[in-house]
Amino acid sequence: MTQQTFDVIVIGAGPGGYVAAIRAAQLGFKVACIDEWSNADGGPAPGGTCTNVGCIPSKALLQSSEHFEHARLHFAEHGISTGAVKIDVGQMLGRKNTVVKQNNDGILYLFKKNKVAFFHGRGSFVRAFEGGYEIAVAAGAAGAAGAEPQTLAAKQVIVATGSSARALPGVPFDEVNVLSNDGGLRLGAVPKRLAVIGSGVIGLELGSVWRRLGADVTVLEGLPVFLGAVDEQIAREAKKAFDKQGLKIELGVQVGEIKALKKGVSIAYTNAKGEPQTLEADKLIVSIGRVPNTNGLNAQAVGLQLDERGAIVVDADCRSNLPGVWAVGDVVRGPMLAHKAEEEGVAVAERIAGQHGHVNFDTIPWVIYTSPEIAWVGRTEQQLKADGVAYRVGTFPFLANGRARALGDTTGMVKMLADAATDQILGVHIVGPMASELIAEAVLAMEFKASAEDIARICHAHPSLSEATKEAALAVDKRALNF
Ligand code: FAD
Ligand code: NAI
Repeated sequence: MTQQTFDVIVIGAGPGGYVAAIRAAQLGFKVACIDEWSNADGGPAPGGTCTNVGCIPSKALLQSSEHFEHARLHFAEHGISTGAVKIDVGQMLGRKNTVVKQNNDGILYLFKKNKVAFFHGRGSFVRAFEGGYEIAVAAGAAGAAGAEPQTLAAKQVIVATGSSARALPGVPFDEVNVLSNDGGLRLGAVPKRLAVIGSGVIGLELGSVWRRLGADVTVLEGLPVFLGAVDEQIAREAKKAFDKQGLKIELGVQVGEIKALKKGVSIAYTNAKGEPQTLEADKLIVSIGRVPNTNGLNAQAVGLQLDERGAIVVDADCRSNLPGVWAVGDVVRGPMLAHKAEEEGVAVAERIAGQHGHVNFDTIPWVIYTSPEIAWVGRTEQQLKADGVAYRVGTFPFLANGRARALGDTTGMVKMLADAATDQILGVHIVGPMASELIAEAVLAMEFKASAEDIARICHAHPSLSEATKEAALAVDKRALNF
């Protein structure tokens, strides 16, 4: 057994961990990063959920399936004719895997470039000692075969072990018929009938992928409202578009027994009226939220405090109950988003260096990459009402935006909420084309505490979708020019 000493050890190389490791190395620390994810060949696959079975592969499949849908339904209106449009699922998955591998390799390259020592295997606490912690690295399943077990030591430890899909009680993922996000991203063929439980972000994104490719998709949602965290007007607009596309979403259901059939599964549930129903499907994706990964950490060896969900308890600065132990990303409180994990990783590395790293939770953007895309930052109209804040609203539909018309995608709107007295922007909510890109301007504006008038007075390129944001800002003052 060998032991190496570092200034900082990061456990987990998802967006929280790998970014924390790079930032700590940039700040002059000697850094190790441990990650257990293996690729199909047993080699290291840093990047975590995000790179391997999350953000990146889902966006690759969303892109492929959107091209397919465009070719099938929209090329003709541009005067483009094709033969019958077919999908080669194997090729599509192969492309997705290449995109994932490029990201894995990119992170390994960045570790090398920044002199971060990478260890492939499971990291767990062994003990605390005077001035630091000892961490064991167990060779990953097949990945670190032949690697000698080792221990590392450091004064500072950043835990960034992420999260895993939550299963329904008594219904484990077999990744054949009952799928988590992992199985849902590597179906070898388009299922005829796909059931999805949970109409959250994963349910809508993966439901959209397979619907576009030809599956008959039914999404069962427990809550009586659709996308409860989203501004109600925006959620209504999105629901209308999904209904039109044929994505069936049933709200207010209670899921009962799930049985394996000879082929596929049957799902018993009661609908919103309390009537018993049965849905049969070839495949089922369960997307009902995620649970923090703390099982493999041996947290009790050092007395690291976890909450009742198994998440690491941290303060606003990501400090755990132990001196020198920090935690970031999905394994702690707050939204489970890659960019939130990254920001926390950077902030912690900077705090370790004595700087004042900071994450502004009020300006973290959210994006749902469906078509139309849904993106928002700040408070919704229903939150402002609940908080008793006096506000003004400006909305602008993409229907009145020249670029959206030229693109052939005029669904949705930009909605801006501003303080009635000061005009400070309190929230921006977008449903429509490229909402994921448009939201960046709103985040920037809110970070600089801009007023709606500030956006209204800024020159926006014409023709661009961003003009809809400017027009929504003008509409706050009831003086939109093009609507
Ligand atoms: P993770 O990315 O989960 O990484 C944790 C890493 O730690 C993993 O590699 C894991 O193997 C490793 N690990 C765990 N325990 C140990 C241990 N003991 N020793 C060594 N290694 C360990 N977010 C967005 O912002 N945008 C999106 O578009 C988006 N799309 C998503 C799509 C899907 C289908 C899913 C499932 C998630 C998506 N997310 C998205 C959420 C995003 O993936 C997570 O918020 C993000 O990955 C969290 O980063 P993290 O670093 O905290 O953890
Ligand atoms: P989610 O929290 O977004 O949605 C889960 C949904 O399942 C909720 O609507 C909930 O009411 C419902 N639900 C829970 N239990 C249920 C039950 N027993 N029966 C029926 N419905 C039930 O979780 P999801 O979709 O699993 O995604 C997990 C997280 O991953 C997201 O919260 C998000 O943080 C992240 N993610 C982010 C993406 C993005 O940023 N574009 C994309 C995908 C995931």
